[in-house]
Amino acid sequence: MDPLQNPFSPGAGSPPPELAGRKPLLDQARITLGRVKAGRAERSFFLVGLRGVGKTVLLNKIRELADNQAYHTALIEAHEGKSLVELLLPALRQVLSALDRMAQLSEKAKRALRILKSFFNGVKLKVYDIEIGLDVEPEAGTADSGDLEADLPQLFIAVGEAAADRASAVAIIIDEMQYLSEQELSALIMAMHQISQRQLPLVLVGAGLPQLVALAGRSKSYAERLFQYPQIGPLLPAEAAEALQEPVQEQGVAFTPEALAMIIEQTQGYPYFLQEWGYQAWNLADASPIGTDVIARATAESIRRLDQNFFRVRFDRLTPREKYYLRALADMGDTTQRSGEIAERLHVKVQSIAPVRNGLIKKGMIYSPAHGDTAFTVPLFAAFMKRIMPPVA
Ligand SMILES: Nc1ncnc2c1ncn2[C@@H]1O[C@H](COP(=O)(O)OP(=O)(O)O)[C@@H](O)[C@H]1O
Ligand SMILES: [Mg+2]
Repeated sequence: MDPLQNPFSPGAGSPPPELAGRKPLLDQARITLGRVKAGRAERSFFLVGLRGVGKTVLLNKIRELADNQAYHTALIEAHEGKSLVELLLPALRQVLSALDRMAQLSEKAKRALRILKSFFNGVKLKVYDIEIGLDVEPEAGTADSGDLEADLPQLFIAVGEAAADRASAVAIIIDEMQYLSEQELSALIMAMHQISQRQLPLVLVGAGLPQLVALAGRSKSYAERLFQYPQIGPLLPAEAAEALQEPVQEQGVAFTPEALAMIIEQTQGYPYFLQEWGYQAWNLADASPIGTDVIARATAESIRRLDQNFFRVRFDRLTPREKYYLRALADMGDTTQRSGEIAERLHVKVQSIAPVRNGLIKKGMIYSPAHGDTAFTVPLFAAFMKRIMPPVA
């Protein structure tokens, strides 16, 4: 089939040709946004799921929904090496400037800008690549203590009040939230606590790997009641079939039912892999319908590509000890394992291997579904580990 017409889009955050199986979640998000804007009680939410399930795609969709409801949105992505403040300040500056430009002069928006400035002074950024460039005087005494957990709530309240003053609303959207430090997460949670008590039109929408739930709970025990954590998982077989069939049908092409079943078995319904398999199958097929012979070749090609890119970049960031740990985990199967048994397999004590395990959790490679349990955050990574490394003796 003509590669130029290939409808599939494997890649981090690439919008899929058919966003299958996510309608209930998006409907819920639309309602939440509407209620927050109307000043009604509603919990912010964090999308939680493994790599490649479609969290970033959903955040971008939610941003669109917010824009359609005349929200002002700040969308940021947390990084291992960057502070929340560094990411948040330029985004909030934009939001506030937009609010300030709306129709009449807004004293509240001006005040929030002054508080943003004092916040900036307070945290005393040791960064050189951000320049707040605000032509206002800081509001001394507000949000400038230098203690993030005290200052961030004050800043959020000011932003929320500015939005309310404009009959508008603000959505702060944060991807890869598991990379935030405990202190940053804690400050965010405290800020949202204050916002919800005042019913201000500001909503926080986040996404992260499964460890985010535990991180948030550890930062502040009331986080559990303050937020919802919708689980984003693989697609059900019918949804996965739709994600594959719809895009090709638009071009008069079809997969045979057997071909669909084969892709779904190989990918276990993980959105990223569905895109990859669909993409390869399209390029390899000579004619419609696309049958199992083509899928067998698409499987080989998809795995080769994943091994070179998606899996490989993650593998290359690991230390030798981390690789051994993951190889042992892979050997035990594709599912959740007891941390004690992994240690046994490596012939070491649980305590002595704990730093390695923690490092892997920080890097987003594994997570703990329950206390003392360990599992991969990247689907199909176990099979990759077995291809790339010999077993641990
Ligand atoms: N609901 C869906 N149906 C089909 N494909 C999807 C869906 N959600 C995401 N994808 C595809 O999956 C891949 C990974 O999406 P992404 O949002 O980057 O995942 P995550 O942020 O969870 O790692 C992208 O190629 C995207 O097009
Ligand atoms: Mg993502």
